[in-house]
Amino acid sequence: MSRYRRASLGSESGYVPGEQPPDGAHWIKLNTNESPLPPSPRVGPAVNDAVASLHRYPHPQGEPLRSALARHHGLSPESVVLGNGADQVLESCFRAFADPGDAVVLTQPTYSLLSLLARLSGARVVTVPLDDGGSIPEAFATAPGVMRLLCNPNSPTGSWAPPADVAGALAGVHSVVVIDEAYCDFAPESCVPLLAGHPNWLVVRTFAKSYGLAGLRVGYALGHPDLIADVAAVIETYPVDRLALAAAGAALADQAHHARIVEMVVSEREPLAAALRGAGWDVIPSQGNSVLGRPLGGDAAGVLIELRQQGILVRRFPDGDHGDRLRISIGTPEQNRALLAALGIGV
Ligand SMILES: Cc1ncc(COP(=O)(O)O)c(C=O)c1O
Repeated sequence: MSRYRRASLGSESGYVPGEQPPDGAHWIKLNTNESPLPPSPRVGPAVNDAVASLHRYPHPQGEPLRSALARHHGLSPESVVLGNGADQVLESCFRAFADPGDAVVLTQPTYSLLSLLARLSGARVVTVPLDDGGSIPEAFATAPGVMRLLCNPNSPTGSWAPPADVAGALAGVHSVVVIDEAYCDFAPESCVPLLAGHPNWLVVRTFAKSYGLAGLRVGYALGHPDLIADVAAVIETYPVDRLALAAAGAALADQAHHARIVEMVVSEREPLAAALRGAGWDVIPSQGNSVLGRPLGGDAAGVLIELRQQGILVRRFPDGDHGDRLRISIGTPEQNRALLAALGIGV
């Protein structure tokens, strides 16, 4: 760190993502909750076609993708703001709604990026424990704060609360509520249909998971046009480039491929969890695209190293309450079988 760094940044070293080995290396990569399948075959040609227009800036609000997403979700285009991944949308929420010193309410555990975004924005973090069943504690609604962020399904647990329960728990809340639905396509239901009755809610989505486009960086928020305008006011000028707009548009149009990704994850998730449980692992019920399990004996760090030696990457979150667990992204059937074989678990 240099002597020029602003004082309030302290010794902050930024978000540490899961390991990204070089492309082409033969890893079974189950560590960053990516899609087990590549994106729709329509994406390549769409990107190719868009190249001819790269001398022009993209549409600042991300048209025509914004309108396509609005139609997809049954909302108006003014109810949608696009960003360079859900992460940028989340960061913009902090910029739009939290001043330095303001309290923001997070659950514990939650997506680890959120507390970093809070620190960077100078907001004060109030954490409310969330049990592994996913039910939302009263304190999440009552703790004073300008913004509350909930991941549903949660990360890294995969626990999930039905939208009706979310609405019940948050009845009477007037601050901004950001519901991160990065993993929602793998769960039974979304909070999007409840947006009409909740002008203080934003739902954040991404193409990274259920559309197989983690490498592309396209996310978006849905909500009341006034809230969306607040986020749009602070996000960068052209948050989504032309190639990404074309690719995400093609992926959105191929709902059959999207359904294949979701179906693979959902159909593989429970058998994988059951096989791990059968070998003595404690696995939290998940509605996301991963499972979080404590290996028999609790030596998550040791098991992670053993798996790595066998070419399989999984993820451990050493900070917080779940350091004795491993998060395993749901892979293809072959990858999941290889994982179990590497763990010495017969299926
Ligand atoms: C809960 C949650 N939200 C958002 C993201 C990031 O989404 P994106 O890749 O679109 O930035 C992740 C990535 O793992 C996540 O776990």
